[in-house]
Amino acid sequence: MTLDALKQKWIELNLEGSNSTKDLESISKIMQVDVLRPMRDLIKSASPQDKRSVGMQVGELEKSILAEFKEKQLNIKNIEERQFLTDDRIDITLPIENVDKIKNLHPTTRGFREIYKLLSSLGYHYKQSSLIETDFYNFEALNFSKSHPARSMHDTFFVAPVDNLQERRVLRTHTSSTQIHIMQQLDDKQKKQLYSGSHSLKIFAPGATFRNESDSTHSPMFNQVEGLVLGVDINLYSLKLAVKQFIHGFFQNDDIKFRFRASYFPFTSPSFEVDINATPKDGSWNFDIEDNWFEILGMGMVHPNVIKNAGLDPEKVKGFAFGMGIERLMMIKYNITDIRELFRPSQNFNGNFGSYPVNLDRRKRCRS
Ligand code: PHE
Repeated sequence: MTLDALKQKWIELNLEGSNSTKDLESISKIMQVDVLRPMRDLIKSASPQDKRSVGMQVGELEKSILAEFKEKQLNIKNIEERQFLTDDRIDITLPIENVDKIKNLHPTTRGFREIYKLLSSLGYHYKQSSLIETDFYNFEALNFSKSHPARSMHDTFFVAPVDNLQERRVLRTHTSSTQIHIMQQLDDKQKKQLYSGSHSLKIFAPGATFRNESDSTHSPMFNQVEGLVLGVDINLYSLKLAVKQFIHGFFQNDDIKFRFRASYFPFTSPSFEVDINATPKDGSWNFDIEDNWFEILGMGMVHPNVIKNAGLDPEKVKGFAFGMGIERLMMIKYNITDIRELFRPSQNFNGNFGSYPVNLDRRKRCRS
């Protein structure tokens, strides 16, 4: 077949007339087999003296055919995407049918409320601070060394710098940044009251946090609650008691087993992590399996450097802090084994959720 005949064949494939990805796929197949391949064969079969000029002609034609194809492909992709968005539009003004089906709160919302209620009843005041932080509040004031791994791109989402903004910003990696804001906000009178022992400070700060990680127990965006207590006679014993009170209260179960494990955080000393004796296994949480622990909480005595960095005198006041993941707590309490379920907008999941808190019956069942 001559080059002109192949060109004619290409025109007959009627690329212009195709209007879907499917059309394009079949055209692409025929194009390869019936046009491009025979074109290349022409070069092979050309006489030595013609090879060069045939090669150039074939090359040019091939280039223009592929360019035409690519342009059409882009065009169709754009049209199909636009069509998808139009078809996918939801009319939010439509009345909701079956209101019954969506009566359950999302587990995370529920977790927020349960924790709010519990910590308020234990005397903590509700506080909040920003989700986008400067390096100072997220790391520096919290005694992170310059080379701490959390400061690397690998673990932390950095926010693109804004003109003339000196300090680098991050999506906060934990709610501990709130500790610094809270301490800085104390005025001289409040500081005096704190130092004299006539007052103590007791706050909790729930909210979103962000880390560059994702698997069945980690999500890049998740929620934490920070607890901070400052006073003249705060010690490790008061911290352990506070955490115990929280765990028993949250799970409404005094039998749930947990342990304190020595750990390290730059902003507390000494530092501990708290694990619950629970393990996700076969789509459900199992309790009391020997030596199977799930981390839910970090805690410790506030490091004197942190107290100082936030403008208080570490000689005159002590503190403890704890921080925990709301989703992780909810997973154990309500038998959710994959944290990603909590971030999928599935009404079905929400609808089924809410009837299965940890209780002794379930613990017994797990044992048998
Ligand atoms: N901020 C720590 C974390 O995200 C938890 C923590 C809070 C530890 C307060 C100690 C004190 O892992």
